Amino acid sequence: MAENLAGLNRTHMCGEVTDKDVGCEVVVMGWVQKRRELGKLIFVDLRDRTGLLQVVFKSELDSELHSKALQIRNEYVIAVRGVLQIREDINPNLKTGRWEVIASELRILSEAETPPIHIEDDVDTSEATRLKYRFLDLRRPTMQKNLMLRHKVAKIARDYFDEKGFLEIETPVLIKSTPEGARDYLVPSRVFHGRFFALPQSPQLFKQILMVSGFDRYFQIAKCFRDEDLRADRQPEFTQIDLEMSFVDVPDVLTVCEGFIKRVFGEALGIDVKIPFQRMTYAEAMERFGSDKPDTRFGFELVDVTEIVKDSGFKVFSGAIEKGGSVRAINAKGCGAKFSRKEIDALTEVTKTYGAKGMAWIVVEERNLRSSFTKFLSEDEIQGILNKVQAEPGDLICFVADSNDIVFEALGHLRLEIAEKLNLRDENKTNFLWVTEFPLFEYDDEEKRWVAKHHPFTAPMDEDISLLDSEPGKVRAKAYDIVLNGVELGGGSIRIHNQELQKKIFKLIGLSEQEAQERFGFLLEAFRYGTPPHGGLAFGLDRMVMLMAKCDSIRDVIAFPKVQNSSCLMTGAPDFVDEEQLKELHIQPVEAENEK
Ligand code: AMO
Ligand code: AMP
Repeated sequence: MAENLAGLNRTHMCGEVTDKDVGCEVVVMGWVQKRRELGKLIFVDLRDRTGLLQVVFKSELDSELHSKALQIRNEYVIAVRGVLQIREDINPNLKTGRWEVIASELRILSEAETPPIHIEDDVDTSEATRLKYRFLDLRRPTMQKNLMLRHKVAKIARDYFDEKGFLEIETPVLIKSTPEGARDYLVPSRVFHGRFFALPQSPQLFKQILMVSGFDRYFQIAKCFRDEDLRADRQPEFTQIDLEMSFVDVPDVLTVCEGFIKRVFGEALGIDVKIPFQRMTYAEAMERFGSDKPDTRFGFELVDVTEIVKDSGFKVFSGAIEKGGSVRAINAKGCGAKFSRKEIDALTEVTKTYGAKGMAWIVVEERNLRSSFTKFLSEDEIQGILNKVQAEPGDLICFVADSNDIVFEALGHLRLEIAEKLNLRDENKTNFLWVTEFPLFEYDDEEKRWVAKHHPFTAPMDEDISLLDSEPGKVRAKAYDIVLNGVELGGGSIRIHNQELQKKIFKLIGLSEQEAQERFGFLLEAFRYGTPPHGGLAFGLDRMVMLMAKCDSIRDVIAFPKVQNSSCLMTGAPDFVDEEQLKELHIQPVEAENEK
């Protein structure tokens, strides 16, 4: 029978006893990690969120208590009163390995069935099982540590932005659709038949309105919802540290954000991050790394060999160039000597998954070259390439010829793959980087029109405004992303506060005045009554904590995450609802496809 706490007050958390407490009576409470018997002694490792503490029951001191302790099983919840003493056999691997509690009272507060998963780190339980029994999985020390870190990051964010004059203001969750570009989650209105709220993809429009309303600096730890395909660093519901500032231009926003990163890495991890961060334009990031979120922890930069091979007899190369594309290479230093033919073929397959038709390669040996294609090139072309990529014996040089988009995509990922194989993605490095001057528009081939790359309120760079009519594809935006070790941690922009310019942008992306009114009429109206220049950014909190905790997936830093198909394995959401509820919402039930 479960006992209660009457008259018993906890004095210490398990992990927080110290030498000062030796000889004193303590009361500790928690879960039983393990029970061991050694003759007349019973040892219990007691666990709470601060750690483990050894408790000893001695039959020579109290045989009744000793017998009661024999009932204890793993994961029972118990309270123990006793005297803290120094252990005879100090365990150096345990934070509290110096001490133990000699029990004088035991209360069994709750029994536990045998748990379906081990409450230990480094057990290879499948993630599906862990998520189904998340309440147990969250007891593991790593998960507790991750969520404590997450709390700390959120706390530091609140402190930092408060000190910098930002106000935390909540924005609604039942809203009109936002323009972030993913699919919305919709909530039917009971009152208005056939109408829906959208869940916010971000607080974007509200935070801009708060600037119009004169709050000057806003921030919020905001829940965002995007119905998109999940990946290791994407969840349908995630959290942003969202901010917006008035009377600022790009450098002001970057400086405030760098200050935050410095603070959070310093305070939460003791890592001294150097600011300002490296800044790189989007164009340079693509040219050098084939990515708008380059991992700068290693080299293998892209080299453009288009000029050298443009008249080559190798049609794969000259053909791609004729069509307006390019030929670029990566010199994987030393990999020619390291990688087998099979491994090189595997790299070719990697480039193909990113759209390349193939990957041409050269292995530089002491006296000659091994290659999939040099027989089609002239001596001069070969020499030109080798010089340009600074080839040395032992190198592997990989080439992709195609449209620029595909070349960047394929070689950008190839770089990562090679670095992964060579273990160069050192998780102890913190390579922060600003990527700036993103293109304002990108061309949507399917819809045959320009679309906003960030969102339609992003300001173009002042010096590019004159290109809006003639060459929209060349217009750069006052948009920036913050990247850490190849992961996009956050992004933002300076917004348009000039109404004429805003109209022009809408027109360019094919949004009629009427459509603009329907979608964001309230924002456009707000803008008519005095709008300060403003801009901001949103950090992905989950991604930030994931990188800080050195986890591979944001699921490990979210208490109750969703899985690949956006469902929750613990609660079983999404689920069917009563017909009554549907009727109230004027929704006709249709037989669900996957239930047939
Ligand atoms: P953006 O769409 O770039 O900008 O989002 C900002 C940051 O949020 C994180 N993020 C995600 N994290 C987990 N799961 C997701 N599905 C997900 N989607 C985005 C990323 C990303 O960098 N309103 C603008 C910000 C602004 O302009 O101020 C916005 O939402 O780390
Ligand atoms: P092929 O003449 O088709 O056998 O191709 C010769 C070499 O060029 C092979 O190693 C192919 O993988 C490679 N290759 C084919 N298409 C491309 C491309 N678009 N870019 C780079 N290499 C390619």
